[in-house]
Amino acid sequence: MTNNTKKPSGQPEKRDSFATSFGVLVALAGSAVGLGNLWRFPYLVGQNGGAAFILIYICFVILAGLPVMLAEFIVGRRGQSSARSAFRKLAPGSHWGIVGMLGVICCVLIISFYSVVGGWCTEYLFKALRFDFTDGSQENLKTMFSSFSSSVWSSILCHTIFLALTAGIVIGGVQKGIEKFSKVMMPLLFLIIIGIAIRSTTLPGSGPGLRFLFEPDWSKVTPQTFLAALGQAFFSLSLGSCTVVTYASYVKKDANIISLSTQTAAADTIFAIIAGCAIMPAVFAFGISPGEGPDLVFVTLPHIFSQMPLGGVIAIFFFVALLLAALTSSIAMLEVIVAFCIEQFNMKRKVAVALVFCGVWILGCLCSLSFGPLSNWKVLGKTIFELFDFLSANFLMLIGGLLIVIFAGWKLGKAVVFDEITNGGTHHVPAWLLKTILFLIRFMAPAALLTIAFFQIHE
Ligand code: ALA
Repeated sequence: MTNNTKKPSGQPEKRDSFATSFGVLVALAGSAVGLGNLWRFPYLVGQNGGAAFILIYICFVILAGLPVMLAEFIVGRRGQSSARSAFRKLAPGSHWGIVGMLGVICCVLIISFYSVVGGWCTEYLFKALRFDFTDGSQENLKTMFSSFSSSVWSSILCHTIFLALTAGIVIGGVQKGIEKFSKVMMPLLFLIIIGIAIRSTTLPGSGPGLRFLFEPDWSKVTPQTFLAALGQAFFSLSLGSCTVVTYASYVKKDANIISLSTQTAAADTIFAIIAGCAIMPAVFAFGISPGEGPDLVFVTLPHIFSQMPLGGVIAIFFFVALLLAALTSSIAMLEVIVAFCIEQFNMKRKVAVALVFCGVWILGCLCSLSFGPLSNWKVLGKTIFELFDFLSANFLMLIGGLLIVIFAGWKLGKAVVFDEITNGGTHHVPAWLLKTILFLIRFMAPAALLTIAFFQIHE
């Protein structure tokens, strides 16, 4: 290498970017598709009226999710910076940078507990590879899970492995790390989940599971259903946490942000529905009552795998899918924090990743220990794990989403919104669509988010 190709020391890192539109799409879809799709969506659907819930969920994705995603896109791509700097660049001398800061804090909280669950997925993949679930009664599997999750060292070791995998991808940068990984892993994830869905829906007795998911039952729809649908849409699309702002800052100026946002939301929703078809028909075929969260994935499903023909192999594929889904989401959250550190403190990517790894690792250990020795440490009646989950999903994401649409719709204003959506007038968007998008960003999304905030406070 000659001297003039060397980067002078002290020079800021050159901004990375996604190389292809497919790369952007799979990275965004990866950030959205995660544990929320696999362990929460299918259960929420069944509990809240099947197809009736799916319909309400899709309405919220269109009316509130897509406008927030577009607003994040506008801020990120126009700002061409990490979360906090993007807001500061677009509104110099104001306090709007706080919104980016909230996003960074939200990602710190989410990844801290998310990487603990990612650690559980890693351990359960090892267990599946060792065929540990064979002959497992539900009672035994419950004990297996609670003794593992409450253990100190095994649980922390797995959390460390998962976080190291996440950091290992992010350290490669946007193009050579995140994009390269997502391009291979997202199609693989879809293929695996489609394969399991085919197996599950063709099991004898799978009918009641499909009815649980898809039979519209409007009598089960309550005000709570609307809260659940909007909350799930936000968590699942990773909105309000500035992951889209950060990824959008690596997107080229000629990319069509309407189609990228729509395709991301569609991929996430379709994946969630296929995940429902992979899980619920099998659960019902074996006469087990469906639950949600850790119990569904780490107790009920291993029990079913132990009874199903070829269940051992399906278990391996399922936990590979779960791990990949968790990883593609965690790399997006880590990137928000890393990008912030690189730009804010003028750090090299490697140093930023190492530093963020250490900070998140410590917080993650506290979350992990809240299933064991720290189970009595409670704030607002919640363990550290529950508190981080509650603060991020029920509070910061919604506040963040609300502030982002207000910023894009009112502070940046109509001209900037239209300019970004049409790529400076080079991309034709019909006038009615432009007006509808502006209406959704300015009025519809804030109204939906304020309503949800009102109900959250009065719960
Ligand atoms: N969007 C991610 C998920 O659904 C956080 O798990």
